[in-house]
Amino acid sequence: MRLGQFVMESGGAQVRVWGETDVLVVSAPLPGVLRVRLAPQARANGLSFPRLGEKRSFALRPDLPEAERLSVQEDGETLRVGGGGLTLHLNRVSGAWRVTENPDGKQERELTSVPDWNGDAPTARPALDAERFNLRRSRLSIDAPDGAAYLGFGERVGPLDKRGMHLTFWNTDCYPHHADTDPLYISVPFTTVVQGERAHGIFVDETWRMTADVARTNPNALDFASAGPELDVYVLAGPRPADVLRRYADLTGYSPMPPLWALGAAQSRWGYRTADDLRAVIQGYRERDLPLDSVYIDIEYMDAFKVWTVNRAGFPDLKAFVKEAAKEGVKLVPIIDPGIKAEPGYDVYEEALKNDYLVRTARGDVLVGEVWPDPAVFPDFTRPEVVAWWAARHKLFTDAGIQGQWNDMNEPACFSLALTDKGGARETEGKTLPYDALHGAHSHLEMHNVYANPMSQASRAGYAKYSPQIRPWIISRAGYAGIQRHATVWTGDNAATWSHLALSLPMIGGLGLSGIPFAAADVGGFGGDTTGELLARWYQAAVGYAFLRNHSAQGTADQEPWRFGEPYTSVIHAALELRYRLLPHLYTLAYGASRTGLPILRPLALHHAGDEDALRADSQYLLGQGLMVAPVMAAGHSKRQVYLPAGRWASVFNLAEFGAIHDGPAYVTADAPLHTLPLYLKAGEALPLTEPAAHTTQARWQRVTWLAHLGETGFVGHLYEDAGDGPTEGRFTRLVGDREGGTLSIRRETEGEAALPEQREVLHIIGLEPIREVHGAASFSYEDGVLRLTLPARWEEITVTWVE
Ligand code: GLC
Repeated sequence: MRLGQFVMESGGAQVRVWGETDVLVVSAPLPGVLRVRLAPQARANGLSFPRLGEKRSFALRPDLPEAERLSVQEDGETLRVGGGGLTLHLNRVSGAWRVTENPDGKQERELTSVPDWNGDAPTARPALDAERFNLRRSRLSIDAPDGAAYLGFGERVGPLDKRGMHLTFWNTDCYPHHADTDPLYISVPFTTVVQGERAHGIFVDETWRMTADVARTNPNALDFASAGPELDVYVLAGPRPADVLRRYADLTGYSPMPPLWALGAAQSRWGYRTADDLRAVIQGYRERDLPLDSVYIDIEYMDAFKVWTVNRAGFPDLKAFVKEAAKEGVKLVPIIDPGIKAEPGYDVYEEALKNDYLVRTARGDVLVGEVWPDPAVFPDFTRPEVVAWWAARHKLFTDAGIQGQWNDMNEPACFSLALTDKGGARETEGKTLPYDALHGAHSHLEMHNVYANPMSQASRAGYAKYSPQIRPWIISRAGYAGIQRHATVWTGDNAATWSHLALSLPMIGGLGLSGIPFAAADVGGFGGDTTGELLARWYQAAVGYAFLRNHSAQGTADQEPWRFGEPYTSVIHAALELRYRLLPHLYTLAYGASRTGLPILRPLALHHAGDEDALRADSQYLLGQGLMVAPVMAAGHSKRQVYLPAGRWASVFNLAEFGAIHDGPAYVTADAPLHTLPLYLKAGEALPLTEPAAHTTQARWQRVTWLAHLGETGFVGHLYEDAGDGPTEGRFTRLVGDREGGTLSIRRETEGEAALPEQREVLHIIGLEPIREVHGAASFSYEDGVLRLTLPARWEEITVTWVE
């Protein structure tokens, strides 16, 4: 390869190395993050050589600080470039490179090693049209050490560890997906590599169609192959998976804080057509005293599937309906698809056409396809003027008082194409646009994966402009790295089967490990007919989904919570109440996610790296650090096996039945008849809970019940509170229990907003021996190993002593 020359650029923030044909550029955008931009065959590939042009990234957060300064050292064949605590060692003869860290200045540790990267220059004139696209145009081979696990990679089925899989990055509308379907709707080329207790990250910021062979063909190589001319690689330091995730979030951005209402129960169905249908749904919930915070409305509210229109027969007065629902404490979340009906006289179409906002064919005509509207054309969201135009369209919703939006079909999905050019290349996969369709000067092959990001960016911009006082709730089906800045996601069209219920946990967990903390699956299953038992178990499993939406397809059995009668309605009722009791904890986790990137629903591996059993425990999850959720996800089962990693765990089933204490690591059997959700609280943790309610109001809880499990040094709990919407200027509370011998002193530390309503606080502590004395509480009781304290108003310190 021979990379003979190098130069330090950008005021010391970039080192560029090049040879006859290839270019490599190093920078350190953040501490602990090294970027290595590889352009093999740059000259022949038409890139500007030897100085590569600026790259537009859809993944990186736009407000990254200035890059770190680099140091360069020549040592024979090796060039060493240091920055942000990491060092790149480049062999200038072979092109091989590796990245090390030496955090304490003494011991150097290798994070990753790249023996090979190369590319193909395009051949002059391919014989066949199909050869016009080289899907392996640039390639990169990274060493995959024995035993290393690979987490993340976006939306994937299968186990959490992707080792042994071949993955494609190409957003795909597929229904139904199976246990081995790949790719799905969301592409995130980011993985956390876990080796023993240590972890580091690899992120390849390429929107082009790409594949990753995760130690499948060669058990010791992670191979990337891209249809694009370069590979933009980021190596992220650990040392723990949570550190990698934080660095990735710092690089690609944080999710905005959601409004509280979006964490409450939601009901949806492709089949609700009119305001009357929604009225009946809301009434159905209220009559049965079932909590409900939002209803979603699918494509039927539009006039003939024309986006940004409302069918007046079904919704004579949208604004009045939004108000009416609000009186019941319910928000409306309408769907929007990108496909625009190609109908002369329809203003959205006419404007897009006139302003040249649409995706074109390789020959230059406006590309015409079919989605729900037929014929349909596609806005080219990769251009800022199109984003601004789409954002302005949101006025239809904001004028009606709408605060949430559901962006669908944005892979983009396209069922068929109007072929004007039959002889041209028409490779499409997953019912989308052809590779050679044009987004301005860029091919669809390059822009496909990123299509959903600027679409949701437009939604956020629209709400920011017309409803700046609220936090909009945007949910998207497709996405690329960075989508978390614009939208939350759901896992698309699943099915009403037990296997899909089970699949949802590693899918959502994997999305969380891909920097998307707010993700959920359709509760009850989208396709096919659900059953009472499946629906009930699904609601239990979903208590820790970032959001909780029951959604199903047209033509399937109705699946609102009451449709299957007893005992199912009561079991679902209890699961919904459990969700609402957990809201202070969920909201605090949401606040954390918006600041650290750590997800709500967490695979065990996130906090227990190095524990093989934790890595494989795909059928349970952590809600935060210390609450283990282990739902039953099989028909007719009333017991299940649960893995409890290192630590002491108290069973707190349904957050009501406090039972056995287990020392992990251990497998235990949970008794879980239909009405039971097995939950375990780790020693040292305190959870903030509240009372169930019909719907949310403010995230300023009038009643707080802390549930604490005493650990060796005591416990800690966290609670974030604010108005539940609008600016995040709230109050952050830490409840601290310090244990010394047989004495526990409990105090509370608060930061931020002082003027919160008086709270009625109760504290339940598990794990205490018989109590001797309690000071400072209004009252207390002690029964079956649980101390229940009622706290007086404005309490300062409480002490408990017991017999050790
Ligand atoms: C897609 C969506 C689904 C929606 C349907 C109709 O299949 O994934 O959620 O109900 O389109 O809009």
